[in-house]
Amino acid sequence: MLTDIQEYKSRIKNVLIRKDEIDKKLAEYGALITREYEGKPLLVVSILKGAFVFLADLERHIDIPFETGFMAAQSYYEGTDSSGEVTITYDLTQDISRYHVLIAEDIIDTGRTLKKIVEMLKERSPLSLKVITLLDKPSRRQVGFEADYTLFTIPDKFVIGYGLDCAEYFRNLPYIAEYDTKE
Ligand code: IMP
Ligand code: MG
Repeated sequence: MLTDIQEYKSRIKNVLIRKDEIDKKLAEYGALITREYEGKPLLVVSILKGAFVFLADLERHIDIPFETGFMAAQSYYEGTDSSGEVTITYDLTQDISRYHVLIAEDIIDTGRTLKKIVEMLKERSPLSLKVITLLDKPSRRQVGFEADYTLFTIPDKFVIGYGLDCAEYFRNLPYIAEYDTKE
């Protein structure tokens, strides 16, 4: 458990993406989604937990009727290292064959989580299936996977904030920062 405030603050190395930069992109992509899905039955699916902050803010920039769904996947961690395995711990409750589905993810790292989720959802025959990700670390990819929409491409650094965690902490930071591993 992390309770020491000095220790907590000392782990936030430097801000990589400021809140105002995030807000600008959210407005841009919210408008794009609004145009693209107007008149279509849309289900926006958030992959928990990391995407909950991104999704909540993005949704407030979408100006058409749509539904929200949740899925949870666990791919991580021992600290900042990927375990390589992906488990779906919570599944959608909607029958997606009646919807255009837009998956919102926090970050694409090895690509394993989204590859698995996309394969799984395609079998359920949605009207269409696209992926929007807040962050992409293309240099870390282990399996072929590309998002349809990427807000920010970042270098190979472990990041925290705006929904992203390290050992469940730091999700509340309003910006995206580099995590200090102190190695
Ligand atoms: P992938 O399956 O390797 O693409 O990993 C995706 C998941 O790993 C994301 O949904 C995050 O939960 C986690 N992850 C990957 N990189 C980072 C990072 O830099 N900070 C925090 N979580 C990360
Ligand atoms: Mg995580």
